[in-house]
Amino acid sequence: MCGIVGYIGESQAAPILLEGLAKLEYRGYDSAGIAVYDGSQINMMKSVGRLKVLNELTHDGETLPGTLGIGHTRWATHGSPNDVNAHPHYNSDNTIAVVHNGIIENYMKLRKRLTAHGYTFISETDTEVVAHLLDYYYKGNPIETIIKVMHRVEGSYALGIIFKDHPDEVYAVRKDSPLIVGHTKDGNILASDVPAVLKYTRNVYFIENEEIVRLSKTDMKFYNVDEEELEKEATTIEWDVSAAEKGGYEHYMLKEMYEQPKAVRDTISPADPRIVNNKIEISELNMTDEEICSIHKLYIVACGSAYHAGVTGKYVIEGLARIPVEVDLASEFRYRDPIYEKNSMAIIISQSGETADSLAALRDAKAHGIKVLGIVNVVGSSIAREADSVMYTWAGPEIAVATTKAYSAQLIALYLLAMKFAYTRQQIDDNELQTLIKDLRKLPEQMELLLNNKEKIQHFANRYIASRDVFFIGRGIDYAISLEGSLKLKEISYIHSEAYAAGELKHGTISLIEEGTLVAAVLTQEQLYKKTISNMVEVKSRGAFVLAVTNTGNTEVEKAADYVIYIPQTNKYFANSLAIIPLQLFGYYVSLGKGCDIDKPRNLAKSVTVE
Ligand code: G6P
Repeated sequence: MCGIVGYIGESQAAPILLEGLAKLEYRGYDSAGIAVYDGSQINMMKSVGRLKVLNELTHDGETLPGTLGIGHTRWATHGSPNDVNAHPHYNSDNTIAVVHNGIIENYMKLRKRLTAHGYTFISETDTEVVAHLLDYYYKGNPIETIIKVMHRVEGSYALGIIFKDHPDEVYAVRKDSPLIVGHTKDGNILASDVPAVLKYTRNVYFIENEEIVRLSKTDMKFYNVDEEELEKEATTIEWDVSAAEKGGYEHYMLKEMYEQPKAVRDTISPADPRIVNNKIEISELNMTDEEICSIHKLYIVACGSAYHAGVTGKYVIEGLARIPVEVDLASEFRYRDPIYEKNSMAIIISQSGETADSLAALRDAKAHGIKVLGIVNVVGSSIAREADSVMYTWAGPEIAVATTKAYSAQLIALYLLAMKFAYTRQQIDDNELQTLIKDLRKLPEQMELLLNNKEKIQHFANRYIASRDVFFIGRGIDYAISLEGSLKLKEISYIHSEAYAAGELKHGTISLIEEGTLVAAVLTQEQLYKKTISNMVEVKSRGAFVLAVTNTGNTEVEKAADYVIYIPQTNKYFANSLAIIPLQLFGYYVSLGKGCDIDKPRNLAKSVTVE
């Protein structure tokens, strides 16, 4: 979603801001802007559309001289994407400029009050309220002013602020929306996300909730809401800069799909390996065998693809460890007043670790005394920091909005948990565990085989560029795979697509099948082959073109399918990791054929920090 960058130092600010914003483009946005103080006034340039437009308007920053400034990429929430609603926003006499991530929930009330005090609003945004509120309280002391504003606004925010009266300082504050700061070689930089600062530093300071930071050219100081100065320690980001670059691939998504075998290997064997002496070791869990044996129920909660990984997790954990699992979309879970059982545990899955609904679900579970395990990719993110324990997925930075490698790594984390729980609870014996470990270790190589077969998928995908609807069907784990396959296609190609539990087709969806409609059937669960083949026959006889993704050896499927993609044999619980590869490639190549913006699909954001 929105991105923030701020800079103060010896260099010209605008090019640094623009470059930093470019690194945050992947998060999704629809307009952008920067404000730079030039020694006498704060100048601003904003524009709807891609950053390219802002670069052109400012001649790559040249028309906005000055060594301190703030910048923003906006993903519209309050008011449509246009130049006026784009950030930064000024107070009335242009002496304060502010950029904002998050949502000010009581902005209507504040707007009314400020209007009554004579303030005029020019945008529809909630952020403009902050600019005027800062103005209202400002008596010369920025920290004091920011604290007063913090007491008045409700909701979530990361703010970058500059005051004309304080030409040697940039301010920032956060509540429930990430912010980091770091030193550059000649100044200090602030951003909402790590990729924007990686070029300058790997040592970053995470601003915690309700903390304020003041940056000057040579210094940074942190304060709490009582205006007390805080000591903070830097965190070293291990990502290597090239991990967040395209590295010769046409798109981040393609590169990230190719990084999946590595993401899987690294998640199985990070620095603190998870398979030791042929047993599963998840030290981060911090649970004794007795505690594992006493778990009555698991709640898996997540959004988007992470939720789809969770649906698979339910089948795998219930199948192997025989622990009942409820899996929920975080946006539903947080408002459904869940009945938390004693001895239960919540698992929050999130690539970014910042998804607002997932974070709210985590807090709800904790508030009810439930232990929370986070399965998270971004080290030091909010979910990672607030969960009782965190199991990192070692997928590295993921830039494409449509997740691939983080999803694959989430599956591995869930398999490892299921195996650990199953063995500890004596649901599987050592022989079964060794077979599972062997199959798990084989996955990266098998994924490579599938990735190397991409031309076949590309060829097939090219025939479906003009599709109106595509349906994905499957049962059990194959249904979970279908959910993710369908999402991958629709989110990047804008083709309407739905995933259906195959047995549910006859209850409505089948009426949508027309001559030539593509139906992708997933069949990796041997015990369910026959059932799904019957469903394939049903749609085929109504004119559908049927693509099947199934295990090598299941040639029977050819009777009911028009086109078959075989995946290598693996344990039935791990089939998702292989079957998803051709489906990701399919979505990618359909989108490529249609000429869509694959890495930054319209209206979508990588990290959804508002509910
Ligand atoms: C967005 C992303 C998805 C992701 C979902 C959940 O919709 O585009 O790829 O699955 O958010 O995000 P999280 O960071 O919590 O995994």
